[in-house]
Amino acid sequence: MAEHTLLADKTGELRMDAAAKAERYGMVTEQIRATLEGERDLLAGMASIVCLLHNAFPYYFWTGFYRRVSERMLLVGPYQGTMGCLWIPFERGVCGAAAREGKTIVVDDVNAFPGHIACDSATASEIVVPVWDAADRLIAVLDVDSTIPAAFDEVDREHLEAIVALLRGKDALPVVTA
Ligand code: SME
Repeated sequence: MAEHTLLADKTGELRMDAAAKAERYGMVTEQIRATLEGERDLLAGMASIVCLLHNAFPYYFWTGFYRRVSERMLLVGPYQGTMGCLWIPFERGVCGAAAREGKTIVVDDVNAFPGHIACDSATASEIVVPVWDAADRLIAVLDVDSTIPAAFDEVDREHLEAIVALLRGKDALPVVTA
C-alpha cells in the first residue's frame, strides 16, 4: 500500500529532464505495484494508477483511462484533471488512433494531429498507451495530456507501458469477497 501520495509542484517549472523523469517513474511504479498487488478489481486498479501518476508529475495536466465498451468505442473511465470528453469512437482523436493501431502514440503538438479531440484547449501534447487484458484483448487506453509542448518521450512510453501491464488479469466485474 502506498504510504503517501507523491506530490509534484505544478505551479513552477513543469518540464522534467530524462533522468529526473526516470527516477520519479521508478518511485511511482513501486507505489503502484505495491498498491495493485493482491487487488483483483480492474476499476480500483485504474483509479489508483491515475491518482498516483497524476499527482507525481508536474507536467501531467489530464490523466485518465478510456475503456473499450464496444468493438470500436471508448468511454471515459477514472481520470484526474479538467472535464474530459465521454465517448471517443476508434475513428477519432489520438485515443482512437492508439486503440485502432494497438500501439502507444506520442504527440508533440496536438494541433498538428489530424482529428485530435480538444476536450480542453489548454492541452498541448499527449501520450496514449493501449491497455491489454490477460488474453491480449484491448480493454482500454491510458491518456495523459500536458499543457507544455512535447512533454512526453521514450521515458514516459517505456514506464507507462510497464505500469498499465500491471492491470493484466484484473477483473472487470466487481469483486466481492466476504
Ligand atoms: N486528447 C484526446 C481526447 C481526450 S481528452 O483530451 C481528455 C484525443 O484526441 O484522443
